[in-house]
Amino acid sequence: MNPVSTDSGYACWLRYEYIENASLRESYLSSCSCYSLLGDSFILMNARKQLAEALSSMLGRVPTESDTGGIIAGTIDSSTELRQITAQYDFDELGEEGYVIHSETEGPIYLAAASDKGVLYAVFHLLRLLQLGANVRNIHIGEKPANALRMINHWDNMDGSVERGYAGRSIFYRDNGFIPHTDRLEDYARLLASVGINAITINNVNVHPRETELITAGLLPDVAKVADLFRGYGIRLYLSINFAAPIEIGGLETADPLDPNVAAWWRDKAKEIYDYVPDFGGFLVKADSEFRPGPFTYGRNHADGANMLADALAPYGGEVIWRCFVYNCLQDWRDRSTDRAKAAYDHFKPLDGQFRDNVLLQIKNGPMDFQVREPVSPLFGGLKATSTLLEVQIAQEYTGQQRHLCYLVPQWKEVLDFDTFARGEGSSVAKAASGALFGRSRGGMAAVSNVGDDANWTGHLLAQANLYGYGRLAWSPALGADEIAKEWIMQTFGRDLTIINIIQNMLLSSLEIYESYTAPLGVGWMVNPHHHYGPNVDGYEYSKWGTYHFADHEGIGVDRTAGTGTGYASQYHPPQSARYESLADCPDELLLFFHHVPYTHVLKSGKTVIQHIYDSHFEGAEQAADLLAQWNSLEGRIDEGCFRQVRERLIHQEEHAREWRDVINTYFYRKSGIPDERSRKIY
Ligand code: GCU
Repeated sequence: MNPVSTDSGYACWLRYEYIENASLRESYLSSCSCYSLLGDSFILMNARKQLAEALSSMLGRVPTESDTGGIIAGTIDSSTELRQITAQYDFDELGEEGYVIHSETEGPIYLAAASDKGVLYAVFHLLRLLQLGANVRNIHIGEKPANALRMINHWDNMDGSVERGYAGRSIFYRDNGFIPHTDRLEDYARLLASVGINAITINNVNVHPRETELITAGLLPDVAKVADLFRGYGIRLYLSINFAAPIEIGGLETADPLDPNVAAWWRDKAKEIYDYVPDFGGFLVKADSEFRPGPFTYGRNHADGANMLADALAPYGGEVIWRCFVYNCLQDWRDRSTDRAKAAYDHFKPLDGQFRDNVLLQIKNGPMDFQVREPVSPLFGGLKATSTLLEVQIAQEYTGQQRHLCYLVPQWKEVLDFDTFARGEGSSVAKAASGALFGRSRGGMAAVSNVGDDANWTGHLLAQANLYGYGRLAWSPALGADEIAKEWIMQTFGRDLTIINIIQNMLLSSLEIYESYTAPLGVGWMVNPHHHYGPNVDGYEYSKWGTYHFADHEGIGVDRTAGTGTGYASQYHPPQSARYESLADCPDELLLFFHHVPYTHVLKSGKTVIQHIYDSHFEGAEQAADLLAQWNSLEGRIDEGCFRQVRERLIHQEEHAREWRDVINTYFYRKSGIPDERSRKIY
């Protein structure tokens, strides 16, 4: 890497830096100076291009196409040699997206798969190994994704804005139309494919009038072009739809899912869409949520709504992804009986088993809304006869908006590893969401994108690690957050150990740091209304959104126990329900989510709640300053352009963490009247 260049970070983890280490380069050259990629489908052509460009760039020599050695890649149907060499692998078991990478001490490196897409994934895997400096001799890899669906949701609007976007404008749209085909979109598809993403929605779940027209003849030709581009990288296109489309663009008087004319309208619509996009994935639907239309208007339930759409898509192999983010957003803050956290489970658990096979329910990781700390949604353990997707937010809406460093993979890992006990011990969310726990084959993960048209894609350069990490985790939830961080760093910043250690340390500590200077102990929110950035303890306290902390002069927290509170804790299977119900057993980090306690309540850590608030905020702000110091120590070691842009964000984070610290500490000092044991400055 050239430390004086001013790199924007555009290439992300696909930089394919020239390998300076001569012996390593020579060893790769002896294995990878030529290649043969069998087949010429669109996907395979992209794989070939990727392989040729990456090898030239890393090895400093253009590889030749030859079938006499080097890398031999293709589907098992395309070559007897490939089939024979890989005979020991079970391609039925590896499935449509799995692949094999096989090499002995000498001879070719074989990349084989049942499908073109599998070959593409194998190519990216091999290139990753090369970027990581791994040994490529004697490898015997049989790999397949844990999740059938690995999806990205864009919250992009056609006016070019991005809802909760923190990295510039949309890469898809401008001025209510599509941006004509750009290399940028292709680079994006390539980035996503390199980490195994296989599905994408390209418009916001809040479908406004212009985006409602995406399923009309006026815009479908443009949709088809985008679908063509993504198809070349094994990514299937879906659209968010407006449940009231039959009224808004169809001229009908109703969108009642049980009205035969409405069902017929959607059937015709599906046919029309598939004329343009033959492998169209289906619809993502936000219905009866935050003022979006839905079946409730007609006295119908969500199964009625989802099934009607699913029937329209079924003849073409499409599916409906129906979001469970349904709650009363017009709550009276005086009403203590309604609990937003309970809503998704209350709405969808009774419908379990009533959905068509081609319906998946998309469930946010927590019962509220992407807070830095929430319990895991109990709905994952509640739905046993319905396919599901775990929805996470790569966009850092509540986690620093890509101005603060917050590596989210550890949070997602915790969610995936959480034991729902739906089928006894060992019933992790990872298994529930993939469907494996219940013997279903459809399921997986979806994530709100953090990408925009900023030169580095994600605003904060280090937020690229979240996009990378999401893809890797959706492919393999068993990977460690540290492992993923290291892979990402090495591919982005090279193999210098000092750089790796410092950035890895920064990433892995960042979530905890962010949590420590923002809302305490799982209570959430405390942000400025609307844009959700910066501290405002009572910003949502008297609002209609159902997001309260109930702090008074004696204590804080929400009683969600079955005994004396809202009863939310009982939506979990035992022993989780009992753990959360009990003040003694409830984990500290979620205490205020489940219990209302006095400030003098002693945590498992031995500190009182109030002292924990003070300590964590003082320490968190210090640690934020230390992130900057750690980064500063890399000056001159990494590219100047990358260095500066991250430093600028970390300087802001340091200042803003102090603001958080002082607002929160001052608020609770004034509320409680209890001074800090260590007499630090509180205002
Ligand atoms: C959050 C977010 C909204 C979004 C909503 C959703 O509430 O602030 O912008 O529309 O989630 O997930 O639908």
